[in-house]
Order: sequence, then structure tokens, then C-alpha cells
Amino acid sequence: MAGKPLMHAVQYNSYGGGAADLKHVELPVPTPSKDEVLLKLEATALNPVDWKIQKGQLRPFLPRKFPCIPATDVAGEVVGVGSEVKIFKAGDKVVAFLNYLVTNGGGLAEFAVAKESSTVARPSEVSAAEGSGLPVAGLTAHQALTQSAGVKLDGSGQQKNILVTAASGGVGHYAVQLAKLGNTHVTASCGARNIEFVKSLGADEVLDYKTPDGAALKSPSGRKYDAVIHCATGIPWSTFEPNLGTNGKVIDITPGPSAMLTFALKKLTFSKKQLVPLLLIPKRENLDFLVKLVKEGKLKTVINSKHPLSKAEDAWAESIDGHATGKIIVEP
Ligand SMILES: NC(=O)c1ccc[n+]([C@@H]2O[C@H](COP(=O)([O-])OP(=O)(O)OC[C@H]3O[C@@H](n4cnc5c(N)ncnc54)[C@H](OP(=O)(O)O)[C@@H]3O)[C@@H](O)[C@H]2O)c1
Repeated sequence: MAGKPLMHAVQYNSYGGGAADLKHVELPVPTPSKDEVLLKLEATALNPVDWKIQKGQLRPFLPRKFPCIPATDVAGEVVGVGSEVKIFKAGDKVVAFLNYLVTNGGGLAEFAVAKESSTVARPSEVSAAEGSGLPVAGLTAHQALTQSAGVKLDGSGQQKNILVTAASGGVGHYAVQLAKLGNTHVTASCGARNIEFVKSLGADEVLDYKTPDGAALKSPSGRKYDAVIHCATGIPWSTFEPNLGTNGKVIDITPGPSAMLTFALKKLTFSKKQLVPLLLIPKRENLDFLVKLVKEGKLKTVINSKHPLSKAEDAWAESIDGHATGKIIVEP
């Protein structure tokens, strides 16, 4: 009997090591379980969490085991389905989010299995690369704005002043565009080279984070923020505090120990100004919503760079470097 077909995949075997520790291997194409689809991947987007897990920042929980094929945000074509899959069939183009807890990642490969419940249809207007950018980065921006900041993306609701930090990055560039679908005034922070880019996403005013006023996060028009979608790191509460409105919230998507302490203190003292740590809880219906926005031209995925799977380590090093404008994509 012939053996199982093989695929090219990229994996690591231990914590640490960075891009140099990614190994190119041949592995059997995975078999979908009853509630999973098998995807022939066309694009995989990287997120900082992928290399943070390799670094050991989420040990002992993640990765679930070694070796680990990293990355979770994928787009491709359905080539096989489990016995209980109802929505999808072979030939369908989709976007999916894999899961480090369930599938131990799996995105840096030619094929991957995804839960049907984590997969959405991808219309022909949305390229694989554009679709693959959406799961972690787009859903985080969506959750922060709609759930934590209370922005209604249909434009209804009272006007809110929003600050997006690191607005040029994966999460930030979606956050600016999504915020502008709501009734908002958006201030955004980024490096000097990205000011025109961030304005083109719809930001009303842009701060260069390396200038004194930019570092102080002061709105040039004197606004106080109702919510900060905080996508940068290393900015203390004392910088945000004077810029917040009476009930202003900082939604911190990378909360470290000092942010967690501020979160607890603000809660315990019933402070009106709050720090809200955010952990993404990905939802299929929200991913579907984002894919539709891209189809309708209301949201775009800006692509920093594309790398072939054979050079996945270059994409990995670029993500670790931390200077992406938009999303870093790997293509099998
Ligand atoms: N909680 C969650 O569930 C969740 C979900 C997604 C992401 N995250 C975390 O959120 C963070 C952002 O993710 P990402 O994918 O957007 O990262 P990213 O794409 O790597 O962000 C890179 C961008 O950030 C800009 N930047 C860095 N420091 C800045 C600062 N102080 N002020 C303004 N801009 C700054 C860089 O601009 P320059 O090149 O000009 O420096 C670059 O354009 C990461 O720490 C990630 O792990 C958390």
C-alpha cells in the first residue's frame, strides 16, 4: 500500500532559537477529524504571538508539544472534509483560524486542518493573502473596538474619541479602519515614515511616536480619549492618564505585569478611568463579518511583505524585528 502523501512544513523543536531554529521538514499531510476541513494553503499570516510562543513567553502552556508547526491565520482551498462537516466541500475557498491549543498551530505548511467552526467562506474578491491577515489581527481590532470600547461599526452611537497606538502594525491598521466605520474621531500613533499611510487608512490626526508630543500621546486637536486601542508596548499608565476622558479606557492588547497591577488598582478603587486587558476570543461570525467588509471594499489588509514557505525564516525574522507596516505573509 502506498504511504500517506507528504507535504513541506516548517517547525521548531524547542524554546528559543528564533528564525535560525525553524526547520524545513517533510511530513504526512494531516487527516481531518469529523468536524474539520483539510486545506491546501495559499497564504499564512504571521503574528507576534507566533514567535513569542517559540521564545517561551507562554510556557508552560504553549506550545502544547514539540515539534510545533507555528502560525494560525490561513487562507486556502478545501481539499477534504470530515464526516460531520456540513457547510464546506472540496473546492471551496476559505479563511480559517487554527488554534495552538487544539491543533498546536499548523499554519507554516502546504496543508493544514481547521475546525469547520473556525472556517469561513472567502469570496473571489478577497485574495488569499488579504484573507489570511484577518483572523488574529483583524479579530483583535474588532473585539477591542466593539466589545471593549463600545464602538458600533454601523456608525450609530454617540461620537467617541479613539486613540490607536502602533496604528501602522497588523492590529493597528485594522483598528484605524474599523474605528472609522463607527461614529469616531481617530487619533493614531506611528513612526514618521508611516504618517501618510495611517492618514490614508482614515485617521483624523496622526502622532509621530518619536516626537515629545507623540510620546506624550496628546491629541493635536486637544481631544480627550474615550478609548485607547493600545497596540504598542511599554507605555506606562501615567502617559495615558492625563489624555483620557472622564470614563476613558485603555484597552491593552499586550498587558504586562505593570498593566495588570494598574487594572487591579483601578478596579479596586472604582476608578472611572480603567485599564482593560484584552485576550482575543476568536469568533467565526466576526471573521465572516470582516471578510465581507474586505469584499465590499470597506476594509483592506495592507501587506508588508510576502515570503515563500521555503524562506519562512525571513518572514519570522521580519516579524521579530517589529517594524511591519500591515501584515507579513508566507505563501506555500
Ligand atoms: N491580546 C491579544 O489577544 C493580542 C492579539 C493580537 C496581537 N497582540 C499583541 O499586540 C501587539 C501588536 O501586534 P501587531 O500584530 O499589530 O504587531 P506588529 O504588526 O509587529 O506591529 C509593528 C508596528 O508597530 C509600530 N510600533 C512599535 N512600537 C510603537 C510605538 N511605541 N508607537 C507607535 N507605533 C509603534 C511599528 O512602527 P515602527 O516600525 O515605526 O517602529 C510597526 O509598524 C503585539 O505585542 C501582539 O503580540 C495581542
